[in-house]
Amino acid sequence: MKTLLIVYHTRGVKTAQLAQAVERGARAALKEADAESEVRVVVKRCAEAGPEDVLAADALALGTPENFGYMSGMMKDFLERVFYPCEGKIEGRPWALFVSAGQDGSGAITSVERIVTGLRLKKVREPIRALREVTPEILLQCEELGATLAVGIAVGAL
Ligand SMILES: Cc1cc2nc3c(=O)[nH]c(=O)nc-3n(C[C@H](O)[C@H](O)[C@H](O)COP(=O)(O)O)c2cc1C
Repeated sequence: MKTLLIVYHTRGVKTAQLAQAVERGARAALKEADAESEVRVVVKRCAEAGPEDVLAADALALGTPENFGYMSGMMKDFLERVFYPCEGKIEGRPWALFVSAGQDGSGAITSVERIVTGLRLKKVREPIRALREVTPEILLQCEELGATLAVGIAVGAL
């Protein structure tokens, strides 16, 4: 069985809404493809997730708010804990990022991408960025991301 891992942090609600949409899209697409028994969808907060989760994941979706022009402190803590245990062991696995921000988001995106570059994962799409509010269009993008990752690893297309 394969695993899609969704790891996020929020101190409010918005990044959680994005994470829920990624999960929803993944589960719906797996059901549609009759592949629910082939992919496990795991959703964890940054504080709960560690290297063992990342090593066991066939695809990874990361979500963070932008705080002070950077990723959230909890996402940085998560990446600090997983980077060296996972470095060189997960190369080529598909990943994508979703960000919630008040007015910018680019600092969060740049900071996460710089670190993930060192893990040599395969980015499946440009980061999803929710600015100010979580719109239906953004939720749809998150659902599509979940579907892409889940079905992609189910059929071996990613
Ligand atoms: C301490 C703090 C710092 C923030 N810094 C930024 C920032 O640098 N750029 C930005 O666009 N939004 C910033 N924001 C706004 C949050 O990114 C935004 O409200 C986000 O949607 C919160 O997501 P959440 O509901 O998942 O916590 C900041 C918010 C807080 C609380």
